Amino acid sequence: MEDYQKCKAYRGNVIYSKNKDTLISKENSYMLVCEGIVKGIFKELPNGFPKENIIDWGNKLIIPGFCDMHVHAPQFLQRGMGMDRELLDWLKTYTYPNESKFKDPNHAREVYSLFVDELLRQGTLHVNIFPSIHYEASEILFEILEQRGLFAFTGKLNMDQNSPEYYIEDTEKSLVDTEKFIQKHQKDGNVKVSIVPRFTITCSEKLLAGLGSLSEKYGVPVHSHMCEAVNTIKVSQELFPDYKNEAEIFYQNNLLGQRPTIMAHCIFMDDEVLKLMKNPSCMAVHCPDATANINAGGIMPVKKLLEMGINLAIGSDIGSGANLSIARGIASTIQHSKIRNMFDSQWDAVTLPEAFYMATRSGGRYFKNVGAFEEGYCFNALVIDDSNMPGEGFTPVERLERFCYLGDDRNIAMRYILEKEILV
Ligand code: GUN
Ligand code: FE
Repeated sequence: MEDYQKCKAYRGNVIYSKNKDTLISKENSYMLVCEGIVKGIFKELPNGFPKENIIDWGNKLIIPGFCDMHVHAPQFLQRGMGMDRELLDWLKTYTYPNESKFKDPNHAREVYSLFVDELLRQGTLHVNIFPSIHYEASEILFEILEQRGLFAFTGKLNMDQNSPEYYIEDTEKSLVDTEKFIQKHQKDGNVKVSIVPRFTITCSEKLLAGLGSLSEKYGVPVHSHMCEAVNTIKVSQELFPDYKNEAEIFYQNNLLGQRPTIMAHCIFMDDEVLKLMKNPSCMAVHCPDATANINAGGIMPVKKLLEMGINLAIGSDIGSGANLSIARGIASTIQHSKIRNMFDSQWDAVTLPEAFYMATRSGGRYFKNVGAFEEGYCFNALVIDDSNMPGEGFTPVERLERFCYLGDDRNIAMRYILEKEILV
């Protein structure tokens, strides 16, 4: 029998994903939470439950906090600029000059604080981050994430070739700094280290092999970009003629599927790449806003990958994505699947349950026990107040859909991480 003095009951319309096809919606229910962990969802509270421990959110929605599974922290200030450029041109003209400024720790602290505040404001409580190459800035980001309480993965970016001389690393130093960063952050916590090679084009084979060894030695997950654009795939093939495709480059260097692996974009995947990605340790991240802005040439075949059982999540991918809202990412995922369907009718459009699943429970697999409200899950939740949107008689799921399409951060009345109220 629980000691209910240590528990609270959150009342509202609770929604979460059971799986990719099914949303659970429990109207006017109580979610019992003890010391930050969900115990169950009930229509009635047990006899003797202390009334003062009830937090009544009335007719509001209670949903899991979002997962942004691919986002560039140092690109926060460049959002919405250079959006008419092609990827390699955008990297050279906007991104590398901007990221190189994170050599200055003061700049890093200022921008990363703003970035993390905005993540929380948008309801992202779980995040997988791309940093810059700078050791000190990466430490600062790690520290801010811990202070603000998010569940996160981050590391130190690696790039030692095909990069401007003001934003490139020596191979050995890149490996030494990465190992130092890993060793420093091996302790348990909600912010964890990952290994982050930028993409195959900016990493020599020696660097990739060294990073693969570090991943193996310390059991550290991997985060990178893969199969993103027609142009980048072509350059990668020229640079790595001995490999069949980008996935093989990562795989042969111990950086794909041997440990948990997150690959952003994965738009152009042939059968051989799909075979490597159909691994429970791998996850592909759909970044619809970035696809529309920068890495055009195709749209991820989300429905096909879902049906194949490949793990999928959603990423904002700022600054090639302009918007940090994962709710908006859910709407864009559905919209993009419909545009894709116009040119390839083989695959149906993505449904709301599928897109919501990608944005919460599926991305949450990476962190363990976040992104849903089953017993044992962390109470990492958002309270959605849609009272500014006119209309009556809608189901909670219809209201959730409307929030994704019409709402914004002003509709998030509360954010909880492990039951702690997060103020923004
Ligand atoms: N590929 C390599 N670097 C980047 C980046 O910063 N953004 C995107 N979208 N793709 C990349
Ligand atoms: Fe990216």
